Amino acid sequence: MTSENTTKLRSQDWFGKEGKDGFIYRSWIKNQGYPAHQFKGKPVIGICNTWSEVTPCNGHFRELAQSVKNGVYEAGGFPLEFPVMSLGETLIRPTAMLYRNLAAMTVEESIRGNPFDAIVLLTGCDKTTPSLVMGAASVDLPTIVVPGGPMLSGRFQGKAIGSGTDVWRFADDVKTGKMTLEEFEDAEACMSRSIGHCSTMGTASTMAVMVEALGLTLPGASAIPAADSRKKVLAHMSGMRIVEMVKENMLLSSVLTREAFENAIMMNAAVGGSTNLVLHLLAIAGRIGVEVDLEDFDKIGSKMPFLLNLMPSGKYLMEDFYYAGGLPAVIKEMSGFLHKTAITVNGKSLIDNSKGAKIWNEEVIATAENPILREGGIAVVKGNLCENGAVIKPSAASAHLMQHTGKAVVFETIEDYHARIDDPDLEVDETCVLVLKNVGPKGYPGMPEVGNMQLPKKILEKGITDMVRISDARMSGTAYGTVFLHASPESAVGGTLGLVQNGDLIEVDVHNRKIHLHVSDEELAERRKNWKPVDLGYNRGYVQLYINTVTQADKGADLDFLAGKSGHEVQRESH
Ligand code: FES
Repeated sequence: MTSENTTKLRSQDWFGKEGKDGFIYRSWIKNQGYPAHQFKGKPVIGICNTWSEVTPCNGHFRELAQSVKNGVYEAGGFPLEFPVMSLGETLIRPTAMLYRNLAAMTVEESIRGNPFDAIVLLTGCDKTTPSLVMGAASVDLPTIVVPGGPMLSGRFQGKAIGSGTDVWRFADDVKTGKMTLEEFEDAEACMSRSIGHCSTMGTASTMAVMVEALGLTLPGASAIPAADSRKKVLAHMSGMRIVEMVKENMLLSSVLTREAFENAIMMNAAVGGSTNLVLHLLAIAGRIGVEVDLEDFDKIGSKMPFLLNLMPSGKYLMEDFYYAGGLPAVIKEMSGFLHKTAITVNGKSLIDNSKGAKIWNEEVIATAENPILREGGIAVVKGNLCENGAVIKPSAASAHLMQHTGKAVVFETIEDYHARIDDPDLEVDETCVLVLKNVGPKGYPGMPEVGNMQLPKKILEKGITDMVRISDARMSGTAYGTVFLHASPESAVGGTLGLVQNGDLIEVDVHNRKIHLHVSDEELAERRKNWKPVDLGYNRGYVQLYINTVTQADKGADLDFLAGKSGHEVQRESH
């Protein structure tokens, strides 16, 4: 797969043509000022750019793309930058996850339909990474990822504050009167003080680690801060390397092997990555045609040591992680577990690439011998409440709630939750289990990050900071708590979660991977007869297509007809 490619470049099927067609393919693009020799057999590198002013985490990507171009030119290639749908986590409504698959479609069709020999993916904010990798996987050209990098660490009132993570804490403090609204507003600018994505080990950082662990980036790419000049060097070197990858015909599928996916699951456990990884990795595996299932995350990841002391599970931020050695230092610690057979985009294994790595600060990166937790990762629980599973991140949860039985306090929708959670008459105490329905892939639709429901005010005022929470939603990678997520099948398709009533006893037992609703099968059958799906009121456009075809969380929530590859052949010409 990596031997010298002697076949004709794909782009020559456009730019190498003679006659009328070749004229049309070359003439219009020459209006950008490209000389004729650019079209004569140079590898054409598509730079897939998710720059957008409404995706602030990717707001620096025009400059980053320029660095990639410099590298491509230096190596003798021809770079062409193109935009795709870009998803900014904080602004888009109702939730960026609803559009991940649509964005992936724009990536797939933009790559396949244009004269590219290879692709550089510029990724940053949460969904911009999986959507780009999913789309590229369905085409399967040589592909390299350049993660845009995290923000520099925020500081507020003399302390480090992390994107997202401290928002949840501050919001609780405002609710209980520990923080004024003026201070709350001051913290906004302090938190996001530079270009880049969230500074915690939230979903964006998890995704950056995921692509590096899958082997899709040059070594050390994931932790370099966006504002650090070395990020531009990485982009430049990635531009140089992708031209070589065309010559070697190193397809994406030669990197994305089963072993690479296992490496990504192990590394996610080591860094304490977001539960969102589960959905995205399942969807990417589905596109490239590698078998990965929900149980793999538990079987492969949950025995791995947890090594990173970063928010939301720990204390530090991505900038500290970079200075402490970055991902290569973690890979070196994990080398006893990782597969050596999986190659990365530079042709070497993760382990070979991390040979010279070193931990510079053991407060931030623990050693495998002396980890923060002996067993990290994501636990998958099953039971009559969710036969196909739900997930929890034990490192972000409370040890005393890992085995717990409590009475359900049920919210039928997120609006119902907002309306009643702070009602002084709500029958709830800290031993209860908060249950939220209709926030799954179809039910919301789009599976929003609302699973870490804020606790009732009257519980917070007692100084209680965690309760068991269960839903078919997702949770922000920056959030924490004893939160069971992604319950499948979801309530909106008739899953048992939709049948839970106030006062039902729910037992969770993470050690034994169990979640049980203490209601008899007969009673559940009776309730099922009266169950009706919520009318979502959508009847057109992409959202209707999404509702009709999205798969359940345990399958990655991709659209069912997008699984697999279509390759890079285009059946018909344009003229
Ligand atoms: Fe963009 Fe967190 S909001 S990475």
